[in-house]
Amino acid sequence: MPNYQPVKGTHDIYGKEAIGMRYIEAVLGAACELYGYKEIIVPSMEYTEVFARGTGEGSDIVRKEMYTFLDKGDRSITLRPEFTAGVMRAIISNKLYAGDLPLKLYYQGPAFRYERPQLGRYRQFHQFGVEEVGLDSSRADAECICLAVSALQMLGFENVKLKINSLGDNETRAAYREALVKYFSEHIDEMCDDCKERIKLNPLRILDCKVEHDQEIAKGAPRIKDYLSEASEKRFYETLNIINAMGIDYEIDENLVRGLDYYSEVVFEIHLTSPENKDYGAVCGGGHYGGLIKGLGGPDLAGVGFAMGLERVYSLMEDSHLLDHIEEGVDLYVMPVGDKVLDEAFEITMACRSFGYSTETPLAALKFGAMFKKAEHLGAKYALIVGEEEMIHGILKIKNLQSQEQKEISLENLQEELDKIFHEGHEEHHHHCHCHEE
Ligand code: HAM
Repeated sequence: MPNYQPVKGTHDIYGKEAIGMRYIEAVLGAACELYGYKEIIVPSMEYTEVFARGTGEGSDIVRKEMYTFLDKGDRSITLRPEFTAGVMRAIISNKLYAGDLPLKLYYQGPAFRYERPQLGRYRQFHQFGVEEVGLDSSRADAECICLAVSALQMLGFENVKLKINSLGDNETRAAYREALVKYFSEHIDEMCDDCKERIKLNPLRILDCKVEHDQEIAKGAPRIKDYLSEASEKRFYETLNIINAMGIDYEIDENLVRGLDYYSEVVFEIHLTSPENKDYGAVCGGGHYGGLIKGLGGPDLAGVGFAMGLERVYSLMEDSHLLDHIEEGVDLYVMPVGDKVLDEAFEITMACRSFGYSTETPLAALKFGAMFKKAEHLGAKYALIVGEEEMIHGILKIKNLQSQEQKEISLENLQEELDKIFHEGHEEHHHHCHCHEE
């Protein structure tokens, strides 16, 4: 039996959600441009080594969630489970590091992870993210965090809560890992199967295990802050001071370890609550990375970045009514009254479009009442009524569908007449247009 269902964990985006997603991308892109970031468009697939080496062999993503296949030339290819490793590969391939540093790049597009689908979790989802490479400092880290927070504020979110932690430098992480293994070894028999694996591969991940009993045990584990080197601690507090001075609310979360291998020093996540308290998971995650570019064969440059899950951002905006204003209807609905003016109505429709007004017309004769229903359904602002009698005199009727006011305008000066009407009555007309066309 052929299977014509969508692939499990994928979803089609259409209608309001498609408009919403494009709007979100436009606002996030504009936020990035304010901070001097430029867009980079990278392939959706890379040789598997890029993610194995970059995202890291110890991460759940690489161990069990990648869509990996052999191409017809027997090369192992992986659909990107995240962008960071691929963007670093692009920086190295194109020697982008040879230009002015820091490099500030943003990107967007689909990502693929073989995860268990649930609320806010898909197998194909969309990320928007940034990477700043080549300036290894607490201020660069802080600037990146400020961008994440202010981008969400630009979308209209008010209580943006930031969770932040420091994983320290490589020595810190090595010493801390050892201490965790020592502590958890004594309890591992009573812990979940995932943790039994994590203790071997990535003991830090035990700290963010969701199993209640394991969380209890984790409460007694050594704390990372007791292992931070002096330099890492200083760097962390510098970052905190800057974001504090920017008025950003944060909470230090010592169990925040992040699921990817490349992080060192500061890591962060942003969680937003929906009015109905639905839990879509983190909307944004990121942090600093020290050895990633070198590990992929490039120069020894550090970076910092984050990525947001656009489906999650969309769902939260929808629940919080932050997208209501982008549901724009058409400017004009051209109504031919009777069969004889269908051609004229079509010409007028095309003319209005060429003047820059979004315009619809039925293309086939419809009853007057049915046309008003259609206009309402389309959210049209004005109806342009094309009558046989009026056409002889080169006259159209235009009706404001909100106020029901109606007047006559001359066909000859259609563009000027429309410009006048839209500028007078709808000061915000052009402003709205930009919102979802930029
Ligand atoms: P991540 O935390 O794995 O980080 O993913 C970032 C965001 O993508 C998450 O916070 C979430 O909103 C969204 N996301 C992840 N998995 C799914 C899924 N299965 N369904 C829906 N949304 C999902 C990264 O990917 C890093 N590359 C971020 C980064 C950039 N770090 C430094 N630079």
